[in-house]
Amino acid sequence: MRIVDTDYLIIGSGIAGLVSALKLSKKGKVIICTKKQRAESNTNYAQGGIACVMAATDTFNDHIKDTLDAGAGLCNVEVVTKIISEGPERIADLEKLGLHFAERSAESGGGYDLGKEGGHTKRRVLHAGDITGRKIEEVLLDRIHADSNIRIKEHTMAIDLITTSWLRGAGSNRCVGAYMLNTSEGEIFAVRAPVVILATGGGGKVYLYTSNPDIATGDGMAMAWRAGVPIKNMEFIQFHPTCLFHPQAKSFLISEAVRGEGAKLVDSAGKSFMEKYDARGALAPRDIVARAIDSEMKSKGAPCVYLDIRHKPEDYLLARFPNIYATCLKFGINMAKDLIPVVPAAHYFCGGVEAGVDGSTALPGLFAVGEVACTGLHGANRLASNSLLEAVVCAHEMSEKILKIKLDTEDSRIAIPDWQYGAAVPSDESIVVEHNWNEVRTCMWDYVGIVRTDKRLERAWRRIRNLRQEIRQYYMDYLVTADILELRNIADIAELIVRSAMDRKESRGLQYTLDYPDRKDSPPPHETVIADQPGSHL
Ligand code: FAD
Ligand code: SIN
Repeated sequence: MRIVDTDYLIIGSGIAGLVSALKLSKKGKVIICTKKQRAESNTNYAQGGIACVMAATDTFNDHIKDTLDAGAGLCNVEVVTKIISEGPERIADLEKLGLHFAERSAESGGGYDLGKEGGHTKRRVLHAGDITGRKIEEVLLDRIHADSNIRIKEHTMAIDLITTSWLRGAGSNRCVGAYMLNTSEGEIFAVRAPVVILATGGGGKVYLYTSNPDIATGDGMAMAWRAGVPIKNMEFIQFHPTCLFHPQAKSFLISEAVRGEGAKLVDSAGKSFMEKYDARGALAPRDIVARAIDSEMKSKGAPCVYLDIRHKPEDYLLARFPNIYATCLKFGINMAKDLIPVVPAAHYFCGGVEAGVDGSTALPGLFAVGEVACTGLHGANRLASNSLLEAVVCAHEMSEKILKIKLDTEDSRIAIPDWQYGAAVPSDESIVVEHNWNEVRTCMWDYVGIVRTDKRLERAWRRIRNLRQEIRQYYMDYLVTADILELRNIADIAELIVRSAMDRKESRGLQYTLDYPDRKDSPPPHETVIADQPGSHL
């Protein structure tokens, strides 16, 4: 088996991985492995923008308060304060790299054109139209391309972390690399590195309906869990209230910024309904809006609700939301004249690999940054547009920490065992993978969605356990492919979500259960931590 050595292995090429690479390359060789094309990531689809205190009328305290309110009592105040107050410096870093945020015209007073989103009491979302994420990827990848210390390996999917607990005589347990599958050629090889960074993003694909692209299969969380690293708060899955409802529109988001500019949520009769649920109306935090839509759809037997922004001139909509406008039009919806049909869909993981703001995890040598990590910023519900901010601040803090570490030359001599193929043969039953893929995602959507009950969670738990056993057998019997690996990973994170949800006997933030509809603050709320021994994950 081929072994590739590097100083820093980064798994993932979204904002968290790319910002980290550009900082770490000052001191050593960086390899970024990414499972599809380099730009393919959740980052690439981010629309609304990056929340940051930039306006003279805004304060860090306001942003902190909004974040804590959304987080429903589970945010870590120290972490929230650190990330929010460091925001302006990290925004300046992005601008120095070449990112331009939209500005207001001189007639409107100049300065940044700050957007507004649910749960924010102030305008504070920096954006690049409605393609903020695409612009971020373009700018960062341009810089990466020009950096001779960074290599990107596309179509290279991490299978599992390599930890010394499996290697005889290698000292105390730490992470020393990862096994990789080249998905174009089928080769399995290892990357050996004294520093391994998970920047693998979230796992929206574990649900049948999601705003996330196909890469989002929770691989980093699943790999870390299998390696015995604690995983936190997995019950808090954020459902974005407004994904386009159209049979041909796969996971297209209608940004919350559209509501920020005055769109109302209405039923099929055109009647606004959010006021019934929260005084903040369509701009209440996402957990509230998604639940309200779910309740409207269920009580009326409606397949969707609608966004109404017809009061805004067409020119304005075209200039502010060019991508959303064009995409809706492609599906026969003119947002200046028509109601936009929308439904909630799985969007963001507030939980993940337990990590500090500096990316450190319980496993030496392993760091986690971006959506894969659970730092304590989001608590039980993320405030809109706080995740790009978290990624960029934590990538900086983590890199500063890593740059101070003396790289252990011992690690470059650690013998990595060859990948064990056993008696595996090429699969002749892809239908099994497809069937189980659909079953996991449907089970999660039906039983572990916006509204939960004990009975539904127990049912999901039994099904997911059975599916995981079947998938494990399949994984042992057949040569690994990207499909098998992703199936194994969504099934693993499905189990983590179900177990965490079962553990929380209350409703808080994104966890809403009919059996315990109230929030319990006494005794003080706990975080849900799953820390299983490596190898005991079945
Ligand atoms: P990602 O950007 O998801 O990158 C993960 C990377 O890891 C990808 O390159 C992927 O291919 C790679 N990867 C995954 N598994 C493996 C593996 N096994 N091996 C190799 N590579 C792997 N947040 C905001 O703050 N503001 C917004 O406006 C906003 N809008 C959003 C709109 C949409 C449609 C979506 C889906 C999310 C949005 N979010 C927004 C959330 C935000 O985009 C993400 O949380 C953030 O981009 C995550 O960045 P990341 O670098 O951690 O992960
Ligand atoms: C959006 O634009 O609505 C997404 C913002 C986010 O998820 O933070």
